[in-house]
Amino acid sequence: MDTNNPSGQNEIISMPRIGDKAPAFKAITTQGEIDFPKQFEGSWVILFSHPADFTPVCTSEFMTFATMEDKFAEANCKLVGLSVDGLYSHIAWLRTIKEKIEYRGMKNVEVKFPLIEDITMNVARTYGMIQPGESSTKTVRAVFFIDPKSMIRAIIYYPLSLGRNFDELYRALIAMQTADAFSVATPADWRPGDDVIVPPAGSCGVAKDRMAGKEGITCHDWFFCTKKISAEEITKTI
Ligand code: BEZ
Repeated sequence: MDTNNPSGQNEIISMPRIGDKAPAFKAITTQGEIDFPKQFEGSWVILFSHPADFTPVCTSEFMTFATMEDKFAEANCKLVGLSVDGLYSHIAWLRTIKEKIEYRGMKNVEVKFPLIEDITMNVARTYGMIQPGESSTKTVRAVFFIDPKSMIRAIIYYPLSLGRNFDELYRALIAMQTADAFSVATPADWRPGDDVIVPPAGSCGVAKDRMAGKEGITCHDWFFCTKKISAEEITKTI
């Protein structure tokens, strides 16, 4: 909590929600200017904020995310970072990461994805990344999953002190892509290869057939039925 700004907690902030079109903006980044989300149409994008350059949790996050960038790219997902620091701070920090930091087996890590400078906090405010009860001067650890049609599909927020789990971000991405491609839902802790949930029975007849085992799916009850999709089929399809 930011003790310098106790009243900030009552500030009204606008935040895009799941199902909204991603708010548009143009910005300067470490990879040149971007026109967001327009230039990313056709790909998934993870737009994420971090509190500040040259800080340890953020450094561990950037090294981890940069190391996984190719894996996200294979899943048709681009990464875009943001903080309220300026471009030269971003450049200096990313150079330091590459040249000096060795952490958990990662070294010479080059951050190739764009990192937005947002000194004015315009983008951060638009996306609800400034949460005054936590900090009025730094962005929290926000994550926006944006689909190829520029729609916001999932949002995760973490506080300043808590580094994100990037395996979970990847899992969430693949789960949403699987839901789209196969018209299914994914249960708790789902991973590719685990059973998926089929849409609910739309009639008493279908419910009865399912419980009688006529649809070739597994039913725990008439409203909770699962089926298999192999990890290979998912990789091939998405
Ligand atoms: C960090 O990345 O280490 C950090 C940044 C802001 C506040 C607390 C921790």
